[in-house]
Amino acid sequence: MDMSTPTQARSAEILSRAQEIIPGGVSSPVRAFQAVGGTPAVIERGAGPHVWDVDGNQYLDFVCSWGPLILGHANADVTAAIVKAASKGTTFGAPCEAELGLAERVIALYPSIDQVRFVSSGTEATMSAIRVARGCTGRDYIVKFAGCYHGHADHLLVEAGSGLVTFGQPASAGVPAAFAEKTLVLPLDDVEAFAELFAERGHEIAAVIVEPLPANNGLLKQTPEFLNAVREITREHGTLLIYDEVINGFRIAPGGAAELYGIEPDLATFGKVMGGGLPVGAFGGKAQYMQQLAPLGPIYQAGTLSGNPLAMAAGIATLKALQDNNGWQRLEELGAYFESKVAPLLATKGWSLVREGSIFWFSLQEGEPARSAEAIDPDAADLYRPLFHGLFARGVNMAPSAYEVGFVSLAHTEEHIDFFANQLGEVLATL
Ligand SMILES: Cc1ncc(COP(=O)(O)O)c(C=O)c1O
Repeated sequence: MDMSTPTQARSAEILSRAQEIIPGGVSSPVRAFQAVGGTPAVIERGAGPHVWDVDGNQYLDFVCSWGPLILGHANADVTAAIVKAASKGTTFGAPCEAELGLAERVIALYPSIDQVRFVSSGTEATMSAIRVARGCTGRDYIVKFAGCYHGHADHLLVEAGSGLVTFGQPASAGVPAAFAEKTLVLPLDDVEAFAELFAERGHEIAAVIVEPLPANNGLLKQTPEFLNAVREITREHGTLLIYDEVINGFRIAPGGAAELYGIEPDLATFGKVMGGGLPVGAFGGKAQYMQQLAPLGPIYQAGTLSGNPLAMAAGIATLKALQDNNGWQRLEELGAYFESKVAPLLATKGWSLVREGSIFWFSLQEGEPARSAEAIDPDAADLYRPLFHGLFARGVNMAPSAYEVGFVSLAHTEEHIDFFANQLGEVLATL
C-alpha cells in the first residue's frame, strides 16, 4: 500500500534520490519508516515544539530528535550560544574553556561522578565506559539486558542466546561471534537470574551496563528491588555498574535515573540532552577509575572532535536553561498533564500510558505494562502502525516504531497537548 500522501511529493523525491547514494536514503535506520511503512518526512526546519517538512507540512513533534531537544527546536539561548562559539572557530583539537564549563555542570548535577570525559556520541560513551571497566578490573566479560540498546559498538550489539544460555549472539552481521561471547545477556526484572549468574561467574565480569529506566525498547519501569539487587550484587563481586543515562540523564531528574532511584553507579554514560542537539556524549565516574584513562593511565581513548567548542556551548546553554528556569519541575507538570489527557484515551482500548517525567510510551496491550522486553506483546507493532499514520496525517510527529518512546519538551504547552489529545481521540475512534 502506498501510504505517501500527495503533499509528500518533495520528501518522496529527495528520498528516492538519496536512496541511490545513501543506504536506505538515511543516516540512521529507524528514520526510514520501515516499521510503519510510508514516506518519512524530510525535515526542513524546526521551531519550538514543531517541525516543518520540505513540502510545507507542519507537525507537532514528540520525537524531539530522539531526546536531545529538551528545550524544543531552535531554542534561542542554545542557538545564540552556538553562533557565538562558531564565530570564534569551530574546532581546535586543543583544550577549550567550555569543556570545563560543561564538565562542572555535569558533575554538579549528576550524583557520584568525580570526573567526566567528552566524546561525540552515546555509542562512543558506552563503548568507552566498558573499556574503562575492563581496564580497571582486568576482566573481559560484561552483562547487558535483553532488548536494551546502548549504541552500536560490537560488544553491545548482542542479543540473548537461545534457552538458558546467557552467552550473547551477534545482533548484527559483522559482529564477530568471539566478541559477542564476551557479553552475557540476562532478562530485565529477574533478580534470581542475575544472582545466579553472579554466584557462578561474578569474578569474571567487568561491568553490568543498564539503563535504570530502560527507554529504548518501550519504557520498561524496573522495580526498586531489581535495581537495588543489581547494585548490591555487582558491588559484592567487584563488578562495575555502568548506568547508561544517554536518554535519562538530565531529563527525568537533574541527576538522571541515579538521582530518581537514589542509587549510585560506578560509571555513567551521557549524550542527548547534555549536548543540546549537537553531537555529544560523555562518560564519567569515580576518579579511581577515570584516572586510569590516557594520558594518566593505560586505558586508551581519544577523539578528534571530542569536547568540540560548539557542542560544549550548546550543552552548557541547555543545562543552564533547565537549571535557571526550574525546567525539571515544569517538565513533570507537562508530563502529568499529558498523562491526564492521554491515558484515559488509551484506556478506551484497554491500553495504557507509561510515563516518567517527560518521557512517555504507549503500552498497546492489556494489563500491567511490560517490565522486560520479553513481556512486550509482539502484536504492538501492528496496532501501532495505523495509530502512527493517523496522527502523522493529522500533523503529529511520533516515533516511527511501536518500541520507541516519545518526549515532551519545555517548548510544548498545555495547548499543544490538548491538540495532541484531540487528534489521538479522533484516530482511536477510527481504529
Ligand atoms: C540508552 C542509549 N544508549 C546509547 C545510545 C547511543 O547513542 P548514539 O545514538 O548517540 O550513539 C542510545 C541511542 O539512542 C541510547 O538510547
